[in-house]
Amino acid sequence: MPKPKFLYQCQSCGHTSPKWLGKCPDCGEWNSFAEEEARVTKLSRQKTARPVSLDEIVYSSGSRHSTGIRELDRTLGGGVVNGSVVLIGGDPGIGKSTLVLQSLTGLTDLGKVMYVSGEESPEQVKIRAERLSIKSEKIMLLPETSLEGILSVAREVKPQVIIVDSIQTIFSLELPSAPGSVGQIRECATKLMFHAKKQNVPLFIVGHVTKEGAIAGPKVLEHIVDTVLYFEGDKGNPFRILRAVKNRFGSTNEIGVFEMMDTGLKEVDNPSQLFLSERPVNVPGSVVTVSLEGTRPLLVEIQALASASSFGVPRRTAIGVDYNRINLLVAVLEKRLGMHMGNMDIYVNVVGGLKINEPAIDMGVVAAIVSSFRNQPIDTGVFTFGEVGLSGELRAISQADVRINEALKLGFKKGIVPASNANTVEHPGMEVTGVKTVEEAIDILLF
Ligand code: TYD
Ligand code: MG
Repeated sequence: MPKPKFLYQCQSCGHTSPKWLGKCPDCGEWNSFAEEEARVTKLSRQKTARPVSLDEIVYSSGSRHSTGIRELDRTLGGGVVNGSVVLIGGDPGIGKSTLVLQSLTGLTDLGKVMYVSGEESPEQVKIRAERLSIKSEKIMLLPETSLEGILSVAREVKPQVIIVDSIQTIFSLELPSAPGSVGQIRECATKLMFHAKKQNVPLFIVGHVTKEGAIAGPKVLEHIVDTVLYFEGDKGNPFRILRAVKNRFGSTNEIGVFEMMDTGLKEVDNPSQLFLSERPVNVPGSVVTVSLEGTRPLLVEIQALASASSFGVPRRTAIGVDYNRINLLVAVLEKRLGMHMGNMDIYVNVVGGLKINEPAIDMGVVAAIVSSFRNQPIDTGVFTFGEVGLSGELRAISQADVRINEALKLGFKKGIVPASNANTVEHPGMEVTGVKTVEEAIDILLF
């Protein structure tokens, strides 16, 4: 029998090399190579596929199923599809297991649900399920970590939904490497996917995110699955955002908003209201702007603090917004509005632990900084949005009407928006002022 061949594989990106390397030439990670068995793919003699005319393909439209959690359905694009593989990623302890556990009841509409738990014992899961009042004889628990074991049980029991929590704990006996390594994750996810596709059942895979922010065994998993959902949020904050970053069955950038309570995750119907609920009144450095997440407008409060710097190099801190964007906006303020912030530390925060990377909130950030800089509060009934250009102009953004309507719903009476966004649609009960430059906007906001 020929000796098995080994090669070295980067545990961060999956790059392979015949010899051990200290630094991965692909992703630049240090000390990430581990030995894996080289797999030789044999050419099988199975029948190859034939091309089919697009017109001839039939599909059943009723293949979407509700998970019983509206926010999760929304992120999935309206429910889960048969035979689809959904990856739920997020930091450890963020609430992934809680979310899948809570969706079990809704999923039993499809039939038997098999929850494979590699992390927690059946007792632990039972205790939590009881606390979340989850009960059904159709929910089956499988405390198993070997891939071969899981697949053989799945073939025997024929569950209509499979949930694997988490992929990092599952290992294939055929591979010598440890659970959680790139080789194992890829192998296990692929085999599970084949099973799901063949049986036409939905498969949920839970995956932890490494400290660099990638799903462990990172890009390896993302392209295997159909849908990638990230669970985001601050540990110290009860809000959780479920974000679709890839979806073969729906739109991406759709979000679901949850609040972590002692009775589990609660869906948040009106996130804008929630994010604004603790807004301070008449305090400098706070302004409301409207961001769009997928099709969903979100009113968020941006806070800024400009304080005298005690060091030679002023600090710029950005939480929830891009750090470089803050530097750019401060530069615009210095150059175009003549505000000297060279000796000021500037902190910008998006309230509620939200992360926004949309240029539409530029104007909100700028207004918050100027408000704190001048120590002058902005009227609480006013919102503003718009992209700030390098010459200090306020540029139009997409779907202004949707944003203005959301503000109207929450009782805002006045909006300062880019000029070309202002006169698209009439909004009765709302005074929308269009401006061309940041300077004009500031003059109205902080008169
Ligand atoms: P969990 O779902 O175990 O996280 P993950 O699977 O992503 O690692 O969630 C763990 C956290 O959620 C834990 O710190 C406690 C908290 N939690 C609540 O606050 N309320 C609850 O009802 C539950 C079940 C968990
Ligand atoms: Mg868990």
